[in-house]
Amino acid sequence: MHEAAYSDKPGTGTVHEPVMGAEVVAMLCERRPLRIVDATLGTGGHAAMLLEAAPAGACLLGLDRDAQALALAAMRLERFGSRVIVRHANFSALAQMVGEAGFSGVDAILADLGMSSFALDDPTRGFSFMREGPLDMRMDNTARLRAYDLVNEEPEAELARIIYEYGEERGSRRIARAMVEARRRHPIETTGELRALIERAIGSRRVGGVHPATRTFQALRIAVNDELGSLRALLEEGPRCLAPGGRMAVIAYHSLEDRMVKTRMRELAHQGDFSLLTRKAMRPGPEEIARNPRARSARLRCLQRNP
Ligand SMILES: C[S@@+](CC[C@H](N)C(=O)[O-])C[C@H]1O[C@@H](n2cnc3c(N)ncnc32)[C@H](O)[C@@H]1O
Repeated sequence: MHEAAYSDKPGTGTVHEPVMGAEVVAMLCERRPLRIVDATLGTGGHAAMLLEAAPAGACLLGLDRDAQALALAAMRLERFGSRVIVRHANFSALAQMVGEAGFSGVDAILADLGMSSFALDDPTRGFSFMREGPLDMRMDNTARLRAYDLVNEEPEAELARIIYEYGEERGSRRIARAMVEARRRHPIETTGELRALIERAIGSRRVGGVHPATRTFQALRIAVNDELGSLRALLEEGPRCLAPGGRMAVIAYHSLEDRMVKTRMRELAHQGDFSLLTRKAMRPGPEEIARNPRARSARLRCLQRNP
């Protein structure tokens, strides 16, 4: 469950503290990578750490589907000059992006899934039920589908499926019914309206510190951005882009994603061309979680293409 993304703790400002940064650098830079792909550049925190730890001749191709994040990353990484190439792209097109940038034979790939603190903290993006804003939730604001469209137009059964499958929410049917009843009166426009509707449908009591709207907001975000479809493509294409000895690290924040990463990495290791560098997922230490509550659900897994 991606509790971290919907934590009501104060954010870390516009700069996203790189989650498990030291562990990522240790995994990806041990073999002195020269071609690095950061598939989820965000505001460039991990990218800066990787470039600092890599040999001076190393270059990094950074992708993100969020143009606002890319603009911040480009500023943050300016000091690395031509060592950094930034592209507005979905990581589902990783192989194409790698080819176009002349990056074939990648030594290190990082995917730090989910969303950056700065997007989460921006009320106009509509990701958080803690902040009043429009029901948007698009990571890429050039995409057409918004959470508003799902909530106000999807059939009740499809809404219930999305909330159950992507949110693992047991009250999915009650919430879907409440959405359909509410939208008959007038469209559901804001994060606050949706939150209040969920609280009325399944109660407002937190269980295990998790607000009842957490799972539904997560589910809608996953559906709006087809997050699982993109991850499936990344897990197909990423390993194929690696040079012998190259490594791919993925940080997942909820169980659906982590299960996909674990299954795919095990499958590749079983086939013989790859080895798992993490038999079990690595977790952030208590100090990091205390410093950055959004790290608390992170799971890091890493795979190496056999040299
Ligand atoms: C957790 S943040 C990454 C933060 C980054 N590691 C840093 O240190 O600043 C995840 C980023 O991945 C991006 N993202 C999520 N899914 C994506 C996809 N399918 N393709 C490209 N970028 C994606 C989000 O827009 C967000 O900026």
